[in-house]
Amino acid sequence: MEKLLIQGGTPLQGRVGISGAKNSAVALIPAAILADGPVVIENLPHIQDVEIYVNLLKDMGASVLFEDDWMEIDARPIHKTFMPNGKVKKLRASYYLWGALLGKFGEAQIGLPGGCDLGPRPVDLHIKGFEALGATVENCKGVMIVRAKKLRGARIYLDLVSVGATINIMLAAVRAEGITTIENAAREPEIVDVATLLNNMGARISGAGTDVIRIQGVDILRGCRHTIIPDRIEAGTYMIAAAATGGDVVVENVIAKHMEPVSAKLRELGVEIIEGDDAIRIIGKKEYKAVDVKTSPYPGFPTDLQQPMTTLLTLAEGTSIVTDNIYSSRFRHSDELRRMGAAIKIEGRSAVVEGVTPLTGAKAMASDLRAGAALVIAGLIAKGNTEVEGLEHIDRGYENLVQKLSNLGAKVERVTLGEAEQ
Ligand code: EPZ
Repeated sequence: MEKLLIQGGTPLQGRVGISGAKNSAVALIPAAILADGPVVIENLPHIQDVEIYVNLLKDMGASVLFEDDWMEIDARPIHKTFMPNGKVKKLRASYYLWGALLGKFGEAQIGLPGGCDLGPRPVDLHIKGFEALGATVENCKGVMIVRAKKLRGARIYLDLVSVGATINIMLAAVRAEGITTIENAAREPEIVDVATLLNNMGARISGAGTDVIRIQGVDILRGCRHTIIPDRIEAGTYMIAAAATGGDVVVENVIAKHMEPVSAKLRELGVEIIEGDDAIRIIGKKEYKAVDVKTSPYPGFPTDLQQPMTTLLTLAEGTSIVTDNIYSSRFRHSDELRRMGAAIKIEGRSAVVEGVTPLTGAKAMASDLRAGAALVIAGLIAKGNTEVEGLEHIDRGYENLVQKLSNLGAKVERVTLGEAEQ
């Protein structure tokens, strides 16, 4: 077991390169199963979720080469569509195997996913989509068995905007006979990224990135090459960290448009943001004014950044209200922030943050991936030293975190927990 040791008080300065998007990678890798030839994916981040997916595909028989930042997947040798619970449970996004295997083989038997502790994370909309396409879905002792003799195009309305359901239905529908439309589809950039890969394979998808996606099923999907989009959540995390430490940071290899909800909110706080084509400069200030944050599906403010934002808002003069409209209990980081001196009250789906409360270093435990990011930022601004444990969460979504922060001047190191601390 390891922990991060962070000495607070240093403004971040310099340039940081953003890695490929985790929430694209965990969909693109299973999507490659659909191809009748090798698929090469470039700009893949070396993060835990990607490593787990590589192992899952190899367990199924696929050939996977992963070196530097590119991966070649040849799914032709896959000989099994049953995956026991074990590894699958470690990865929330393992549910994309349902759609990919259903599309390719007409069958999938995959354990229900695990993932972050953000409150209930149902998959009823995924199931609704598969059944609309003609599949039968049953939950057999925690293993989802999805089968279809023939997939037929359908008109599917999603009661809730769901990234996972939108992508999963797309993965099955590309091989369905006829036309599928997904209405009230999610519009996240990662959905566009998956549609781009599938179309490069020969699929016929239009409307990705809008709330109506149309898919004309095809018989053959061939191998191709694809470069993942940059990770807008990683980029937003560094932007918030730069603002919180009063630093001056350029985040490179970003798509500025994807960052608009974050840039707009930071400007509202008083942060100076200068946008280039594929880079954004963040100039932090000594004082910020309180703002309210309400998360919503893209292009709204991302729920994945409300936790890091909450840390920044401890530095804003006045009362800030952070409302998460996507997840009902994504506030466990606030317990840890309170222990460091933050004044945060949880009221329903909102965290009420009173600023300005100087934070003091403490031992903190990450409960999920983005809570971990919030605690790392707290350590960067707190007086004294902070120890952050629960790195198994942080490693899921932040490539080379210590290296990237150190290159920005942060005093942070990763150490092994002593015997007594285990
Ligand atoms: C994706 O999760 C992301 N994960 C999450 O990022 C992100 O927070 C979330 O989208 C929202 O943007 C990946 O892409 C791997 P949803 P997903 O389906 O697809 C409800 C991170 O930190 N819902 O868009 O699982 C659901 O409970 C992670 O990188 C249903 O009710 O999220 C939630 O309230 C955390 N039924 C809302 O919809 C369903 O069948 C949005 O969920 C599906 C979802």
